[in-house]
Amino acid sequence: MATKISFLNIKGGVGKTSLIVNLGACLAYMGKRVLVVDLDAQSNASIWLMRLDRWNALNRTPEKFVLGIFQESGSQLADCIQKEVVKDSDDNPVLPGLDLVPASFNLMDLEHEVVNEMGIPFYAHFYEQIQSIESEYDYILFDCPPNFFYAPQCAIFSSDWLLVPANPDALSIIGFHLLVEKLNKFKEECATYSESLSSPKPDILGISLNNVKPGTRIDVPVERLQAQLERFIEQGRISSKATIFPEQIRNSVAVGRAVMQGMPMVLLGKSQGSMNVAEDFIKTAQRILLLTTEGEGQQEAAPDQVEPTQEAEL
Ligand SMILES: Nc1ncnc2c1ncn2[C@@H]1O[C@H](COP(=O)(O)OP(=O)(O)OP(=O)(O)O)[C@@H](O)[C@H]1O
Ligand SMILES: [Mg+2]
Repeated sequence: MATKISFLNIKGGVGKTSLIVNLGACLAYMGKRVLVVDLDAQSNASIWLMRLDRWNALNRTPEKFVLGIFQESGSQLADCIQKEVVKDSDDNPVLPGLDLVPASFNLMDLEHEVVNEMGIPFYAHFYEQIQSIESEYDYILFDCPPNFFYAPQCAIFSSDWLLVPANPDALSIIGFHLLVEKLNKFKEECATYSESLSSPKPDILGISLNNVKPGTRIDVPVERLQAQLERFIEQGRISSKATIFPEQIRNSVAVGRAVMQGMPMVLLGKSQGSMNVAEDFIKTAQRILLLTTEGEGQQEAAPDQVEPTQEAEL
């Protein structure tokens, strides 16, 4: 069964989408079968991975977006999957192993307009759909908006882990506190369905520091975040496994440029001379591999000892 991870932070603009696209791509690059599910109406991950022309064209068949599974048309999640989503300018797939369930702007209707006539909450229906496809993947990654409304609830309910992208600043510390409170409250609210559907009990896998300016001292906010993490662990409010990942993702203009190119960094690193930030993503993906396969009897190497198995060619 797939390891399912929500990329979530109540604070906006911290890099949830940048991490999910780039870490998803790195995991695929290392030979894993990865599905990114876009649960944010902003559709940033979808537009990045599909590029605007293909995403626009898909808007002619709205049932192919994730919202379709909640509407009267009752799409199956499996029918919404864009296989091998990353393509070059001639439309040839360039990253086998990375699939996408795209979002469109209409996903915001889920919060107010779509009438739920399914007899079960949206999150329970979504989880049943995830169960029907999860054997096809090693990792299913959910891109979430910066809130706890219906769409991210679907992601959280279906996840084994939450990965919290954060920036090393005081506001991220406040955001983390709020996230843990909301997470535990939601877990109580959905306990009955969680029990009856045997859904995973999501917990914090770790905090991934993003957008770190090289040469800037971040020890004070990192120490505060670490102290808060330890307090939550002591209080039993989050898993004792949760850590701040030792690998950090640096600030680089190449990340923004990659969006325009509709490519993840791991495929651009060599050609654009921006290998440094691409390596940050690779090391963080290796950390995820390590943390999520621990105890499975597999001896994973530490991040700096692992080499990607697949050479990307463009
Ligand atoms: N490591 C980085 N270096 C430079 N710019 C970055 C980096 N990571 C993210 N950014 C930029 O920061 C902005 C916000 O990033 P992103 O969209 O990934 O955040 P988000 O958490 O998904 O936002 P939202 O809450 O709106 O969904 C984008 O313009 C992105 O290009
Ligand atoms: Mg985003």
